[in-house]
Amino acid sequence: MKTILVTGGTGYIGSHTVVELQTSGYDVIIADNLSNSSADVIDKIEQITGKRPIFIKVDLSDSEQAASIFDKYSIDGIINFAAFKAVGESCQKPIEYYRNNLQIALNMLENMKRKGIKYFVQSSSCTVYGEPDSNPINEQCPTKFAVSPYGNTKQMVEDMLHFITQSGEIKAIALRYFNPIGAHSTALIGELPNGVPNNLMPYITQTAAGIRKQLTVFGNDYPTPDGTCIRDYIHVVDLAKAHVVAMDRLFEGRNKKNFEYFNIGTGVGFSVLDIIKSFEKTTGVKLNYVFGQRREGDVVQIWADTSLAENELGWKANMSLDQMTLSAWRWQQQMQKS
Ligand code: WQD
Repeated sequence: MKTILVTGGTGYIGSHTVVELQTSGYDVIIADNLSNSSADVIDKIEQITGKRPIFIKVDLSDSEQAASIFDKYSIDGIINFAAFKAVGESCQKPIEYYRNNLQIALNMLENMKRKGIKYFVQSSSCTVYGEPDSNPINEQCPTKFAVSPYGNTKQMVEDMLHFITQSGEIKAIALRYFNPIGAHSTALIGELPNGVPNNLMPYITQTAAGIRKQLTVFGNDYPTPDGTCIRDYIHVVDLAKAHVVAMDRLFEGRNKKNFEYFNIGTGVGFSVLDIIKSFEKTTGVKLNYVFGQRREGDVVQIWADTSLAENELGWKANMSLDQMTLSAWRWQQQMQKS
């Protein structure tokens, strides 16, 4: 049994990845400071898989606290989700974002070196590409200057991995997520945004649930077929499975370079209006929305060329847009009950 340390493992993508890791036979230790999640996610994971991950509440940006985990537990690999991740907030608090996100990654890598741990999977993002010159975008496309400190920290961690893995002691894979949405089929885990959601899907489900009065579509005057922005939305369970496939690749020595990175999307772009239409169709709920001003920093359109992940990782997204929107709604309804 291999043991994986999942930093940020009580978060949205982290918790879904823990479920898939356990289902694939890995033992899991979750380290999280609960700044953007709650500890009852551990109970839900145990309810889903029948296995309770070890949970450590810890500030991973604190070097001593981080090191203590590695002195106490035997760890074979790390999946690193732990980071501040609100794009807008990162523009207001750049120093906190750089300090937190970079320090956590460095603390993990430093302890890997200290303890001879070889395998690292990094949560990265399509924000490293900025506004693509054309779509679909592949991994050879140049990354552009980030539009936010959040996106810049994702780029900087990738750049750190490029150099830190050169000695070969550590092998790493970065997964560049497109737009994760949806929730586990049990509706026991899902996206739990703090306060007013920044992201589209939770704003839609909270509007449909009557928590928010109305959804504002940020701009319908873009140069796209229906005037609204286009993104590559991917079901969070498909995304979670990609992390298991990446960790398997490293343990089985199938990686072709010490540092690899892959686009994790569906390869299909949908507009904001497509998401709304799918939501209304799958849930039967009429959504109250208006068109408003464009949002600062929004990319007009981006969707992934997923051929590298398909050919090299043997991974492909399976879930449809309707499965994504319906699972998000079921999770919202479940949340209202609890
Ligand atoms: C999607 C589309 C909005 C809210 C960000 C980060 C990315 C990742 C996912 C963390 C855009 C529109 C949204 C609303 C709207 N984050 N929208 N009304 O900005 O593509 O990606 O979140 O890992 O790194 O960059 O996602 O869901 O915020 O927006 O019209 O109330 O929905 O303008 O076109 P985004 P999003």
